[in-house]
Amino acid sequence: MKTPKLSALLCVGVLSGTVYACPLTAESTHDAWLRYAPIEGPARAKYASLPAVVVVLGDSPVLTTAQGELIRSVRSMLGRTLRAEKNLQRENAIVLGTLASIRAVAPEFSPRSPLGEEGFWLTAQDLHGFQCLIVAATTERGVLYGVFTLLGKMAQNADLFSLNEAQRPYAPLRWVDQWDNLDGGIERGYGGRSIFFEDGKVRADLTRVHEYARLLASIGINGCAINNVNANPHVLDDNFLPQLARIAAVFREWGIRVAISVDLSSPKVIGGLDTFDPLDPHLIQWWLEKVDEIYRHIPDFGGFVVKADSEGRPGPSTYGRTPADAANVMARALKPHGGILFYRAFVYDHHLNWQDPKSDRARAAYDIFHPLDGKFDDNVVIQIKHGPIDFQVREPVSPLIGGLQHSNVAMELQITQEYTGQQRHLCFLPSMWKEVLDFDLQLNRNRTAVKDFVSGKVFRRSMGGLVGVANVGMDASWLGHPLAMANLYGFGRLAWNPDLSPKAIAEEWTRLTFGNDPAVVNTISEMQVNSWRIYESYTGPLGLQALTDILGSHYGPGVESSERNGWGQWHRADHEGVGMDRTVATGTGYVGQYSPPVAKMFESLDATPDELLLFFHHVPYAHVLKSGKTVIQDIYDSHYEGAERAADYVPQWKSLKGRVDEQLYLDVLTRLEYQAGHAIVWRDAVSNWFFQTSGIPDAKHRVANYPDRIEAEGMQLQAYSIVDVVPWENASGGKAIECIQSLGCTATFRFSGDAGWYELDVVYFDQNNGESRFRVFVGDQLVDEWTANDTFPSKKIGGDSSTRRRIRGLALRPGDQIRIVGIPDKEERATLDYVEIHSSPE
Ligand code: GCU
Repeated sequence: MKTPKLSALLCVGVLSGTVYACPLTAESTHDAWLRYAPIEGPARAKYASLPAVVVVLGDSPVLTTAQGELIRSVRSMLGRTLRAEKNLQRENAIVLGTLASIRAVAPEFSPRSPLGEEGFWLTAQDLHGFQCLIVAATTERGVLYGVFTLLGKMAQNADLFSLNEAQRPYAPLRWVDQWDNLDGGIERGYGGRSIFFEDGKVRADLTRVHEYARLLASIGINGCAINNVNANPHVLDDNFLPQLARIAAVFREWGIRVAISVDLSSPKVIGGLDTFDPLDPHLIQWWLEKVDEIYRHIPDFGGFVVKADSEGRPGPSTYGRTPADAANVMARALKPHGGILFYRAFVYDHHLNWQDPKSDRARAAYDIFHPLDGKFDDNVVIQIKHGPIDFQVREPVSPLIGGLQHSNVAMELQITQEYTGQQRHLCFLPSMWKEVLDFDLQLNRNRTAVKDFVSGKVFRRSMGGLVGVANVGMDASWLGHPLAMANLYGFGRLAWNPDLSPKAIAEEWTRLTFGNDPAVVNTISEMQVNSWRIYESYTGPLGLQALTDILGSHYGPGVESSERNGWGQWHRADHEGVGMDRTVATGTGYVGQYSPPVAKMFESLDATPDELLLFFHHVPYAHVLKSGKTVIQDIYDSHYEGAERAADYVPQWKSLKGRVDEQLYLDVLTRLEYQAGHAIVWRDAVSNWFFQTSGIPDAKHRVANYPDRIEAEGMQLQAYSIVDVVPWENASGGKAIECIQSLGCTATFRFSGDAGWYELDVVYFDQNNGESRFRVFVGDQLVDEWTANDTFPSKKIGGDSSTRRRIRGLALRPGDQIRIVGIPDKEERATLDYVEIHSSPE
C-alpha cells in the first residue's frame, strides 16, 4: 500500500450547472491540505482584483514565513507572483502585520474585540485611501495563522473583499507529540520512518521537518515534542543538543516550540549521578545545569514531557516520592526560561491482580493525581489521556479532567490510530473527540464541558489545551493512509475551535485536499464522518473497548487477550454475561470519581448510555438495551452491520473514479477493499467467540453459518497440511492449511453452484516474514496470481495477518475444478483459511 506521487490531471466535470476544474495538479501528497490547486473557472474571477503587492510590516522569521507562504500559495492558485514590500505603497495591497506595526502607520486601526495572544483579524479596509486586505494580530504567530486562514478561504473559493473576521484559539496549548525513537523507528507509528531521527542522530536532511512544521502551523499548532515518551536518555547527551537545535530552528520559523520527552533516570544513566531521587540536591542541580545548557542551544525551547512509573518506566516511586516531587524539580529548572513540564497522568500498575473484582486500571490516574492537586508548580501541565484506559475506540471521559482544580491540565488525544485500525482502516477521530470535548462533567451541577476544563476556563488556569499524538513519518502521505490526514487536520481545528462540527471539519479538509467538486466533497466527508462509529461497531461496541490483541500489535481481533493478565483492560466475559462492574455499589468504585450527577448516571444500569454500558456494568447476555435488543444480539448485529457498512466504502469511493487523481484513487481503493475484508475477519472472530462463550445463537442465523464458504481444510489437499490457528476465532473454523514444501502445495475443490458470473474471495494469511505466492486455476486456466507481500504487523497467522484476495468476473459452471497453488517463502507458509464464492452478475 504505497502512496504514489500525484500526477497532474486535468478534467472538467459539469455539476449543478457549474464547471469544476477536476482536481489534482499537486506535486505530491506531501502538501496534504496545503495543496493550493490552481483556481479555474468562474471562481477565478473572484480574485481578479486581488492586490498585486503584499506589504509586511516588520521583520522577523515568522513574518517572513507568513509572507513567503502567501506569495507561494497565491502563485500556486492564481499563477501570479505578488510583489513584496516593506512599507505601504500608493496602491491597493495585502497587508500583514502586528496590531502595533499597523497602528504605527494607521493609528485609527483597531479590532472590535481583543484578539488575545494568538488570534487574528482578517479585514478589508481602506488604508490611506487604498483598498487593503489586512491580516492583523497581536503577535507574529497570529499573523501567520491569519495568512493560513486567508489562503484556506481562497482555496475554498470564498469571497475576500467583504472579509471582517476575527478568530482566537480556544486553548493556549495546542501541541503534537511524536513518539519517534532516535534510531528512526516510531512507537505506534504507521507512516514510515521518523522524519527527525535516523541511526541515533538527527537526520541530515530536514526537508520533511520543514514541510511538517508548515502543516502544523497551518492548523494553529504551537508546540511539538519530538521523541518517544518512552524516552531514550541519550536525547539529553551534550553532543545531541546541537542536533536538536537544528530541528528547533526549522520549527521556529513556523512559530512552533520544540520540546523533548525525558527519562527520569537520565541523571543516573547519562549524568554520572548514583540516584534520580527528585529530592536529592545533586539531582536538582543536575537538572538546573542541563536545562541551562539546553536553552543555550535552543533559546525558545518548549520544555519536557515525562512518562514515569508507567509501563516499566523509571519514576519517583523508586524513592517513595510523588509525581509532584518529580515534576516540580524539572519545572523549576525550566521556569526561568519560560519552559513547560508536561507530566503524563498515564501512570498505572500493569501487574494488577485480575482475580480481584475490586482492581481497576481505570481508577489509577485519578487515585494517583487527585490527591496531589495543588502541589504542582504553575509551569507544570498534567497531560491526561481522554479516557481512563488507553485510546480505545470508545471510553468514557477521564474523571481526572474535572478533578484537578489547582493544576494545569492538557488532554491527550491520539491521532495515530493505534487502537483504531492503524491507518489501514478508515476511522475519522474528530467525531469521537468532539463527543469527548462536549461531554458535560457537571461540576457543581453546572454545565461544564470537557473543552472548558482543558482550555483552563473552568478553573481560570492560564495554561491548558490539547496534545495530539501524531506520529507522522517519511511516508509520502505522512500517516500511511491518505484519508487519515483528516485526523491530524481535525485535531488542529478542534484544538483551535472545539465548537466546529466533525462534518464541517471533514468538508473543509476534503475541499483543501481534493478540491471543491461537490461530489468529491460530499462523498469523502460522508465516508469520514461515519467511519468512527462503523469501526467501533465491528471492533468494540457497547463500551467493550477495542477487542484487539492487547498483548501484541493492538491491531487485529484478540478477544481474550485482555483477560486474565495484569494489564487491566478486562471485559470479564464469561458464560453468563459480560462487562466490568465499575459501580460504587457493587463494583470497583470507579464511578465515584465523577461529579455526583455524572456518577449517578453511570451508577445506574438504566441511565448509562448503551454505547458505554459494558464499560460500567456487568450484565447477562439477555439484558435488554434501550434499543430493545439483547446485549448478545446487539453484539452480533453491530458486527454484521459494521462489516457491511465498511464494505460499502468501496462503491462510495468508486463513484469518485475520474474525479480524483488516478494513482491516489487506486491507492485508497486498495486500502478500502482490504478494510472490507478485514472487517469480516473482525466480525467473525468476535461473533463466534461470543457465540461459543454465551451459547446463545444469533437470532438471524448468520454467526457460524457461512453457506458460501469453502474451508481450506475441507478441500482436497496435496502437500498442504491442516493447522490450528490460535486463538481459534481468528480463522474460519479455527483451522487453516499451511505449506512447507518449497515447490508448493495445492488445494482443490469443485464448484457446485449454477452456471454464471461470480467473484471468488480467497482468504489467506500474509505475515511479515516471507512473501508467499499464490496461483488460482479454474480447470487448467490460470485466472489470478499474486504475492503476499504486504507488511501487516505479525509474524504469525491470525487476526493481524488475515487478508483477502478478491477475484472478480469469473464465469463458473457446475463441476468446475478450482485449484489454488501456494508457494511458501521463508517463514511464511502460503497459509489459506477459506474461499467464498458470490454470484456477481455484471
Ligand atoms: C500505549 C501504547 C504504548 C505507549 C503508551 C503511552 O500503551 O501502546 O506504546 O507507550 O500508550 O501512552 O505511554
